[in-house]
Amino acid sequence: MIGTDLDKAVALLEAEEVVAIPTETVYGLAGNAFSVKAVSGIFEAKNRPSFDPLIVHVADKNSIKEVVQNIPKELDTLSRHFMPGPLTLLLPKNEKISDLVTAGSPLVAIRIPKHPLAKALLQRLPFPLCAPSANPFGYISPTHAEHVEAQLGEKIAYILDGGACEVGVESTIVGMEEGKLTIFRKGGIPVEALEALIGPVQVKTHSSSNPKAPGMLKSHYAPQKPFVIGDISLLLQKYSQTTSEKEKKVGVLSFKQTYSNISAAYQRTLSPMGDLREAAQNLFAAMRYLDEIDVDVIIAELLPEEGLGRAINDRLKRAAV
Ligand code: TXA
Ligand code: MG
Repeated sequence: MIGTDLDKAVALLEAEEVVAIPTETVYGLAGNAFSVKAVSGIFEAKNRPSFDPLIVHVADKNSIKEVVQNIPKELDTLSRHFMPGPLTLLLPKNEKISDLVTAGSPLVAIRIPKHPLAKALLQRLPFPLCAPSANPFGYISPTHAEHVEAQLGEKIAYILDGGACEVGVESTIVGMEEGKLTIFRKGGIPVEALEALIGPVQVKTHSSSNPKAPGMLKSHYAPQKPFVIGDISLLLQKYSQTTSEKEKKVGVLSFKQTYSNISAAYQRTLSPMGDLREAAQNLFAAMRYLDEIDVDVIIAELLPEEGLGRAINDRLKRAAV
């Protein structure tokens, strides 16, 4: 059930149930981080393998300190500038966080969401919330309450509706590796914003063998339809010249341009003005839309590799695997 009843969400979470909640990045599938029942419920509802750890969400910096051993200096600097917001830090956990949450890692991923409803919820609860994105494992993350309803509605007690997610892509995950600040997932805080504050950082995503980030598996955020990236005009030609007896129906995912030879119902333009923030907001809803309509293949183009464009391109490439 979808609704805006904060009391109800609080009561369900206190009863160790799983509730979908809005954040500024994407919707999360939340449960009491200190409850084995709630945490197991999350893995089950999402069909998520137990080796893939969960992000812990807290109300404020003090609540971070309660569940970690220490905060390395560089990460503390980032926390002061970007929390609350779309930044997740990998920090050495203390005994309050179970191995179930971190999949056995000594590090816990933590973030402070900025969405007013998520904040209000966390302030009312005496425990942190584990919350992976509220989609079945491997599928596109939800940026509207209705996306959650469509895929997980029958498995969870309640979906707290906080409207469309403002950022639209998941948080940037940052930790230390061999003394170096390292980005493990590109996300809502652009690499450039981190570097402006703290100097060069290394970016380590996409390596499916990277034990620090098991969820960085390449085939992630994937639609069910074949998803092809390239030059849209060339791809359109290629698919219109297909020699098979049945012409393939194509869905188009573009950055700024619309294509007059394609019906509007078969294309989604992320930002006609070329604004990367708007593109990020629209990305997952557009991918879902094209995945659900009557097309055989989705063709898409990469965006400029700068700012939020980097996180968007990362998601597009993973969808194409
Ligand atoms: O924006 C976000 O981060 C959203 C919202 C709901 O907060 N959450 C989210 O969670 O994207 P999820 O589970 O879909 O992605 C979290 C990623 C996973 O790839 C997971 O492997 C990684 O973070 N992760 C979680 N805990 C970790 C840990 N202790 N060490 C390394 N990676 C971790
Ligand atoms: Mg996810």
